[in-house]
Amino acid sequence: ADINLQAVHDLLVEVAFEAGQMIMAANTAKIKTDTKASDVDIVTETDRAVEAHVSARLRAAYPTFPFVGEETYIPGQTTITPAPTFIVDPIDGTTNFVHGFPAACISLGLAVDRVPAVGVVYNPFQDILYTAIKGKGAYMQRNASLPEGKGRGERVRLGENLTPLGDLRSALVGIEWGSQRDGPNYKVKVETFRKLAAAREDGGGMVGGLRSLGSAALNLCACAAGQLDMYWEGGCYAWDVTAGWCILNEAGGKVVGGNPGVWKPELTERIYLAVRGASAGQKELIEEFWGVIGDGR
Ligand code: IPD
Repeated sequence: ADINLQAVHDLLVEVAFEAGQMIMAANTAKIKTDTKASDVDIVTETDRAVEAHVSARLRAAYPTFPFVGEETYIPGQTTITPAPTFIVDPIDGTTNFVHGFPAACISLGLAVDRVPAVGVVYNPFQDILYTAIKGKGAYMQRNASLPEGKGRGERVRLGENLTPLGDLRSALVGIEWGSQRDGPNYKVKVETFRKLAAAREDGGGMVGGLRSLGSAALNLCACAAGQLDMYWEGGCYAWDVTAGWCILNEAGGKVVGGNPGVWKPELTERIYLAVRGASAGQKELIEEFWGVIGDGR
């Protein structure tokens, strides 16, 4: 049956605001953290409570859609099938959340045939909402939770009047350390950081600037909004990227595999490179990036 993506989108927006209230109500000074895969892979009671709330809300409305969430995912067991599937990160940017650093969000995605079809990303610290429906465009809204006419911002369509991309030496690039400090993937990250931070022989840097926002979803949305030119990460999960991927696509941007030559990654791949929308220069910039980080991943 055809899914009414608009109805899914409207529900996800509602649920995102509810989650935002839960996140803002948590007293970060008193938050207890547990660690998962490593000392820097943290989870809080709020992550778990938000995921429980979100999954209950979504399951009630769409009981037949599988639900994949960061805090309830079982490694080796949870899979993403072609069925319409909610893919959710209750708090993307948990480390920021714990520190009160205002770059954390709730990331709510729906994938259909393993392709992102609806994305809602809400940063309650800045009250900024990013949304997209496949084929219907991407939007950003400031002061999104305020009542209409009482300060709520316009829904701004993303990806219009795009300027061409320049070369890597002037690009602002997002890149993350992620939550592992060992293993082959971590080595790749360290190498990629080192290569991107390097100087050029003819002076200047390899890139215009490097940024780590601490949230994969917000990095993707920053690309969608044209605030970042690119974003690379070697170690994302589907819940980090599904919603933001939809938003970026609809803003004219592109997600490719972070490995040289991979143009069409699957949702379950781990290494991604995202590039903002542009009237020209996407392909060239991606190839230049791959040229700098090199093969052997
Ligand atoms: C993490 C953040 C971080 C990224 C990691 C993610 P979490 O998500 O998005 O920026 O580097 O790969 O796992 O743990 O805060 O939900």
